[in-house]
Amino acid sequence: MIMHIISIVGARPNFVKVAPICWETAKHKDIRHTLVHTGQHYDISMSDNFFQTLDIPQPDINLEVGSSSHGEQTGKVMIALEPVLEEYKPDWVLTYGDVNSTAAAALVAVKLGIKTAHVEAGLRSGDRSMPEEINRIVTDSISDLLFVTEQSGIDNLNNEGVSEIKTRFTGNVMIDSLIKLLPKTEKNRAFKTFGLEQGKYILVTLHRPSNVDNPDVFRDLLSALGDISEDIPVFFPIHPRTRKSIEEYGFEDILHKHKHLYSSTPVDYLTFLSLTRYSGGLITDSGGIQEETTYLGIPCITLRPNTERPSTITLGTNELVEPSSGALLSAFSRLKSGEWRKGSIPPLWDGKAAERIINTLFESE
Ligand code: UD1
Repeated sequence: MIMHIISIVGARPNFVKVAPICWETAKHKDIRHTLVHTGQHYDISMSDNFFQTLDIPQPDINLEVGSSSHGEQTGKVMIALEPVLEEYKPDWVLTYGDVNSTAAAALVAVKLGIKTAHVEAGLRSGDRSMPEEINRIVTDSISDLLFVTEQSGIDNLNNEGVSEIKTRFTGNVMIDSLIKLLPKTEKNRAFKTFGLEQGKYILVTLHRPSNVDNPDVFRDLLSALGDISEDIPVFFPIHPRTRKSIEEYGFEDILHKHKHLYSSTPVDYLTFLSLTRYSGGLITDSGGIQEETTYLGIPCITLRPNTERPSTITLGTNELVEPSSGALLSAFSRLKSGEWRKGSIPPLWDGKAAERIINTLFESE
């Protein structure tokens, strides 16, 4: 008997999470793995480059939904995905993380009566104004199997009354990808290409609507990054949403005013991993980067009032900092003084999450 699994991915962080599942399923002759890309992210720098560096096969199907409002994007994925799942009738649908494509895919699969599993389940920020929090709650509440990355995920699902039979603590597929590609960063010292020195630069990512869609907050943060760059070079690969805000609000002058505030288009996974590994610290509002820095023991300033990944704070090197210039500059001065917590690696972040997930699917057949 062949087990047919369909993975549905759409946005940049999904690609990093599906890669280990692609590698693992390729080892099994009794698995057929079909990859569906919803097309939520479509720029080469946000999509194709990730498939290449992570050695993910080309998607079998691309739904090409593109960008639109949340409702429209979610609806478009559902409309385009339904006939695909009806035709393929897989044994399992796997969804990943917390993007709009995740919730849309789970809804379609469950309504067709297809068994559905959520990879990276149970995370909660407690902040329902974040679109991702809604996507997490929806996906978890309807999926048949929930693969959890950290203890808080188990606790959250318990508190929500989810049956323990559905929940499995499998570890973190994002860390599987990191562990697999880390040796390649020995040769790929991307910081040199950008004229930076090992350990002597800060790497930045910002794309949360709450930070970059509000001009007052965004101006304040950009100015603080400019100030920090007077102290230590700052490298900022800019997400398309953030680039749009910079252009709309006319903030190019802030970027150009500071000689050592370097920016670029989004970089591929391996380049970003290398830049992270050899940096002096990260300033971010991403979800996954909080975990990657914790694994690598690199200081991470997260410009958010909450996190759905609390183990990065209790065990790791992450700290939540209010998204304002004052709070950022004061956190940076502590980072610079070397007082940052060293941290440890959370349980089961060991490169074997995909193996555990696939074994669980076999056991549940
Ligand atoms: C999405 C996820 C977010 C994740 C992020 C990673 C949701 C609700 N949000 O946010 O959780 O952290 O991906 O990057 O699913 N755009 C392009 N090219 C692209 C993709 C997007 O130019 O390839 C632009 C479009 O103008 C689009 C905007 O970026 O409107 C936002 O894209 P969208 O996919 O809606 O959300 P992200 O901010 O990328």
